[in-house]
Amino acid sequence: MNALALAPGLVHCPGYLDRSAQESLLDDIRAVMRAAPLFTPRMPRTGKPFSVRMTNCGDLGWVSDVAGYRYQAAHPDTGAPWPAMPEAVRRAWDDLAGYPHPPEACLVNVYGPDACMGLHQDRDEADLAAPVVSLSLGDTGLFRFGGTTRGGRTRSIRLQSGDALVLGGPSRLVFHGIDRLVAGTSTLLPEGGRINLTLRRVHPPA
Ligand code: SIN
Ligand code: FE2
Repeated sequence: MNALALAPGLVHCPGYLDRSAQESLLDDIRAVMRAAPLFTPRMPRTGKPFSVRMTNCGDLGWVSDVAGYRYQAAHPDTGAPWPAMPEAVRRAWDDLAGYPHPPEACLVNVYGPDACMGLHQDRDEADLAAPVVSLSLGDTGLFRFGGTTRGGRTRSIRLQSGDALVLGGPSRLVFHGIDRLVAGTSTLLPEGGRINLTLRRVHPPA
C-alpha cells in the first residue's frame, strides 16, 4: 500500500481502492442510499443548509439540524434505523485504523459539482483514541487541512477516487474541509460529483 504521512497521525493512501473495488463499494453505497435516503443537513442555530447531502450506515449516524450536531440511531426523516455497514467498509477500517474495536458510524457525504465543506474538526465523538478513516469515490476533492487550532497555516491535497485518508493520533482533531471538486476527474459516478465515507468510533469500548 502506498501511504504518505502528511503529519504525525495523518496518512494519505492514494489508490487504496482499485477500480473494481471502487465499483463494488459504490454498489454497496447505492444500496445504503436506497434504504436510507439522502437528507440535507442544516447548521445548528441558523438552519442554513449544507451544500452536501448525507446519509449514514452502521449503528449510529451523524446528523445536524437547528438543534445541533449529534449521533443518533435513526434516520432524521424516516425514523428507521441506519442500514448495516457494508463489509467492504468494515474491512477498510480493520486494514487502516489500527484500532481494535469496530467503527460505529459511517457518514456518507454526497457532493454535487458545486458542493464544498468548510474547515471543521470532527469532535462529536466521545472516543478520540480511535482515528477517523475516510474513503473517496468520484471526482477529485481539494482537501484542505491545518493544525488543531483554528486560523493556523493550512495545506491542501487532492483526494482522488479510491484514495483513503486516516486522521489519527496527534492529527485526530486537525481542522479539515473540502474547498471544491475538480470536475471531470473520474468516470466512476456517471452523474459526476463525489462521495466521501467517514468511518468513526463514537463511544469508548465498554
Ligand atoms: C468530512 O470531513 O466529513 C468530509 C471530508 C471529505 O469529504 O473528504
Ligand atoms: Fe470532517
